[in-house]
Amino acid sequence: MTTRSLLTLGLLASTAFAAPNWAATSTTTVTKTKTTTEHETKTKTTTVHETKTETETKTKTTTLKPTVTITGSCSASAPLSSSTSVSSTSSSSSSASSSASSATTSPSSVISATSTTSSTINTNPTITKTATDVPTATASGLNVAAKNAGKRWLGTAADIPGTGEGADPYYLAEFNNANEFGEATPANTMKFFATEPQQNVFNFTGGDYFVQQAKASGKEIRCHNLIWANQLSDWVTSPAVPWTNATLTAALRNHVTKVIEHFGDDCYSWDVVNEPLSDSPAGAWAANVWYNTIGEEYFFQAFDAATQAVKANNLAVKLYVNDYNIEYLGNKSIAMQGLVKELKSRSLQIDGVGLESHFIAGETPAKADQVANMQAFTALDVDVVVTELDVRLNLPATAASESQQKLDYYNTVSACVSVARCVGVVVWDFVDTYSWIPSTFPGQGYGDLFLQPGGANTPLVKKEAYDGVLEALEGLAEIAA
Ligand code: G3I
Repeated sequence: MTTRSLLTLGLLASTAFAAPNWAATSTTTVTKTKTTTEHETKTKTTTVHETKTETETKTKTTTLKPTVTITGSCSASAPLSSSTSVSSTSSSSSSASSSASSATTSPSSVISATSTTSSTINTNPTITKTATDVPTATASGLNVAAKNAGKRWLGTAADIPGTGEGADPYYLAEFNNANEFGEATPANTMKFFATEPQQNVFNFTGGDYFVQQAKASGKEIRCHNLIWANQLSDWVTSPAVPWTNATLTAALRNHVTKVIEHFGDDCYSWDVVNEPLSDSPAGAWAANVWYNTIGEEYFFQAFDAATQAVKANNLAVKLYVNDYNIEYLGNKSIAMQGLVKELKSRSLQIDGVGLESHFIAGETPAKADQVANMQAFTALDVDVVVTELDVRLNLPATAASESQQKLDYYNTVSACVSVARCVGVVVWDFVDTYSWIPSTFPGQGYGDLFLQPGGANTPLVKKEAYDGVLEALEGLAEIAA
């Protein structure tokens, strides 16, 4: 049995303000049950959806150092408010049986490696893997599997240009592999500080480079983000003349308008407002310069400017609101539903909700919870996307935590597969080497799908987490961790 806790990223200012009205009266009762079985053997029997006719054989060898230790449970964070308990029973959607497959992996990407290592990178200090490349006759990969599952793509964030990713040939080869990734999200290059470093002086150099790189391998781009609390320019956070409601609203609208105009239909979608809601109390407005100066109307002003820009330029770009801790039913998710309803009642364009999904292994919402939550949004006639998926571990990783992580990845991806209007899944970068996690959560990491046992600029190796994503996309039944 595992205990789920809420994820507290600590990325926002902690001060929160009165919850939007739609959150105040909401009470949700759900029950969560999750059974986890730890096991050493890597051979398992899987159940296959009845619609699936092919049988796959995979081979994988995972060697764990004998010194691997389990270092304790992940830390819990803020609980749901007392009026809300979250629960559901985890269930598999599979309905027919059964093809035995040895749980093995055959890395098939253009980059593969046979490696036995004592790694010097802190994301994987204890696990040694041996991966054997097996050429495949037909295209395979996460994006291929996602499309076969009826999803638009399987995508990844990337932090290029300007970081080591852009100079790492192994990273770039995998990023450019269209079979693996059909979408890309700029981790930083389209954010406010990068695109409008001085007021009304725009710099699209990094963003344009990202677009060029992503489009070269046919990727769609979830452009990220227009208005957020973080990574703002100094002229916004430390103005020469204090902001008034009118002056900051004008600056906000100008930014939204000009950036949408510039990137146009190169963006599949824009995260118009990022992380508008607080965790404390869950579902209140998050404090930031926009809210503190303009009040909650800043949110609607951003969407109004975005709606106008899309119309004026005859764009097809979709408009999203994106947040974390809204991946399961609770006050914050309910408050987000309220924002969607309010946007619609004002006839503002809102096409989807981004579910960030920065999870901790063993503490993720059950698949059934995630499905129910997605359906609560899609019932409002919007799409959902899993926008920033990663599953971090307490370091060092162990056999048990890695298997749990695989299951957690599986559950989120499988939830998206189960919901027709879940457009796709985006992982928040794909190699531990470049993950944002270790610097933000010291002692945690190993959150991505690949690792580089030799460090940056060395071959990539697929992790069990990769298999979890692929198995979910292929409709293979859930297996115990
Ligand atoms: O570019 C500088 C580099 O010149 C410098 O040497 C280095 C030293 O620390 O910093 C580099 O900038 C860093 C930047 O990432 C690029 O790697 C910043 O310090 C660092 O704060 C920044 O972190 C980003 C973080 O947002 C900021 O809050 C992460 O890369 C980015 O992945 C992360 O993304 C957010 C999403 O936008 C919203 N949801 C949560 C998600 C994870 O925090």
